[in-house]
Amino acid sequence: MREQISPTSVVSGAIQLPGDKSISHRYGMLAAIADGVTRIENYSSGADCQSTLACMRALGAEIEVRNGKTCIHGRGLDGLREPAEMLDAGNSGSTIRMLSGILAAQPFVTRIGGDESLTRRPMARIMTPLQEMNARIEARDHRFPPLTIHGTKLRPLEYTLPVASAQVKSCVLFAGLYADGRTTVHEPIRTRDHTELALREFGADVDVQKRSITVTGRPRLQARELRVPGDLSSAAFFLVAALIVGESNLTIHSVGLNPTRSALLDLLSEMGARIKILDLSSIGGELIGDVQVQKSTIRGGLIEKARTAALIDEIPVLAVLGAASDEGVVVRDAAELRVKETDRIATIAENFGRLGLSIEVHEDGFEVPGRQKFHAAELDSFGDHRIAMAFSVAALAADGPCVVEGAEAASVSFPEFFDTLHRVAG
Ligand code: S3P
Repeated sequence: MREQISPTSVVSGAIQLPGDKSISHRYGMLAAIADGVTRIENYSSGADCQSTLACMRALGAEIEVRNGKTCIHGRGLDGLREPAEMLDAGNSGSTIRMLSGILAAQPFVTRIGGDESLTRRPMARIMTPLQEMNARIEARDHRFPPLTIHGTKLRPLEYTLPVASAQVKSCVLFAGLYADGRTTVHEPIRTRDHTELALREFGADVDVQKRSITVTGRPRLQARELRVPGDLSSAAFFLVAALIVGESNLTIHSVGLNPTRSALLDLLSEMGARIKILDLSSIGGELIGDVQVQKSTIRGGLIEKARTAALIDEIPVLAVLGAASDEGVVVRDAAELRVKETDRIATIAENFGRLGLSIEVHEDGFEVPGRQKFHAAELDSFGDHRIAMAFSVAALAADGPCVVEGAEAASVSFPEFFDTLHRVAG
């Protein structure tokens, strides 16, 4: 799908976003292995989270949408059944990596794969700890999907993550639910803690000491009434849109503001963005609030070390902001971008070139000078949702209409993205 985007000088209004992708995945998986019916409001409409639901259905969980809530009939910790076919995680790295922790403990063999992009995503990072827990997993070339997981009785593990990854942490903690005893994950850099919060919400015993998380195996998980906050990583596109056009006054309602995710708001504020948080509250252990942004003068920003891990999904759109800012942005320690849905350093650089923007690319990051002029161009998502949305936002600041090829990729996390964009950008 080719989406045409015209430049605008105003971004304004009030919007609501689909449920947070990370939280939706976790609720979807845990609800299926809990006892009872979990009802989830604002479960992400994105294709990735629907892939998680399709996998849980194939594993025996009955799932329906009733009165706008996603209702998941839990099968209990030991109630999943052998799927008839290979599970399809679609484009979703979160689905395949986190679900593998559960699959490794089942009394059956599961095959799980996904689309062309997913079959290039590294899986050794989850295979290593799961194998240490006694799992037997086969992978293409020993490290890529599809995976064949021979479920077995797992033993507890104490594991230090070699890469800062919430997906790997979650995979090990989910596997730990099935092991007799306590499974601990030590994190070198703190990553998003939705799994810890969700596990507690469903009744598991989770102990967090600084950057070490311990789960006790064989809990009885209980169904819950839950609501997923709006996705802050999706909000990032609209915050940047509001900051790079001439005039703006935008309110984004009910956004997830978990402190392990909100580095984005800290960075934008440091760069000069006028952002206000209103109506802060807590739901299912997750912070939620309204975010208001107004036209601002944006200075430069440096993203490195722990901050890179905390902002990893927002970097494509922050690159766009950097080019429109006064002093530019520098991104370091971001080799992980090369193994996302696309090699995001390469796909950012390619679209920058098309817009006539300079960028200096490094193996693990890039430098974007500020005060650049965006020229009308044919842009491409390369099948990556965050690239589709980041460059649709860039198009708002161009000197003429742009086209984004492969715009449908946005639906992986945000099917309503273009409707919402056209609504606030006129
Ligand atoms: C996610 C963790 C991050 C992030 C991804 C979602 C999660 O990946 O990039 O979009 O929900 O745990 P890594 O854990 O690979 O860093």
